[in-house]
Amino acid sequence: MLEKIQSLISEVNQLKADNAEELERLRIEYLSKKGRISALMQDFRSVPAEHKRELGMKLNELKEAATAHINALREALSVKENTDTDLDLTRTPYPAPLGTRHPLTIVRNRIIDIFARMGFTLADGPEVEDDWHVYGSMNFAPDHPARDMQDTFYVEGAQSMLLRSHTSSVQSRVMAEQQPPIRVICPGRVYRNEAISARAHCFFHQVEGLYIDKEVSFTDLKQVMLTFARELFGPQTQIRLRPSYFPFTEPSAEMDVSCQICHGEGCSLCKGTGWLEILGCGMVHPRVLELNGINPDEYKGYAFGMGIERIANLLYRVKDLRLFSENDARFLDQFTAAY
Ligand code: DAH
Repeated sequence: MLEKIQSLISEVNQLKADNAEELERLRIEYLSKKGRISALMQDFRSVPAEHKRELGMKLNELKEAATAHINALREALSVKENTDTDLDLTRTPYPAPLGTRHPLTIVRNRIIDIFARMGFTLADGPEVEDDWHVYGSMNFAPDHPARDMQDTFYVEGAQSMLLRSHTSSVQSRVMAEQQPPIRVICPGRVYRNEAISARAHCFFHQVEGLYIDKEVSFTDLKQVMLTFARELFGPQTQIRLRPSYFPFTEPSAEMDVSCQICHGEGCSLCKGTGWLEILGCGMVHPRVLELNGINPDEYKGYAFGMGIERIANLLYRVKDLRLFSENDARFLDQFTAAY
């Protein structure tokens, strides 16, 4: 019997299994209740007492060897299965790529933040608008040439519906809903029928501002604009207001900031002038207040509007407008501000 056990020990140590079924067959053959080792246990009962100790120890050795070897085979099979499916559970994971905010979002959030600190709240309106909110309520006469200034996309089959060409339409929506005091800024996308190039696009983004209260003067507008420019471009920044024309403001102005590169001396960015144009503004035309249900004898206001792309171009020196809407990760990954 001793020899039998000994040869079984070397036999089990050489067992092989290529798959789960073979392994199960081995387990049944050696380790089950009706298996070969159990059979030896039965025989062990009739062994004379003086051999029991030696044979018992050998039998235990056999049982342990069979169990350990079959378990090792099972382990090896499961590793093999995992490698067969290319799944390596021990491998360190790829770093998850973190996105960054879009540069236009960063600039928009900075603008919102500056005005929020001066008491302005957010307002918005639809991008598909009606003629009244975009033009009529903003004092554009039906045949006003200013309507041609902004080549408009009209909705087919609905002549009075259009893609808004400026965010000034939100002014009218706010005035219809709120009575003064009103202090809002309205960021949003606008559309114009322009050929796409490095310097123009058929859509871009604006931030509109509207302030209406009693006793509002041009001085208030100027001071708020100066504060805004210095917060955005730095404390050394100067502003300059040039007379201009918009149907919805009177008087109207265009605002320049001192050039970020040459600080007023003249360079290629400012085309030698020392100034960069960044927005339009003015005192809300009394007719606009009236058209939108606010008494112009009681209230006055100022308004302003700026292009977000224009400001992003100045802050980041982006030379081609198309980069903002192409979603090229090599461009977008360069903007890491937490805003
Ligand atoms: N709506 C004008 C544009 O799209 C920008 C603008 C100028 C808005 C003057 C204003 C303003 O509110 O007062 O060019």
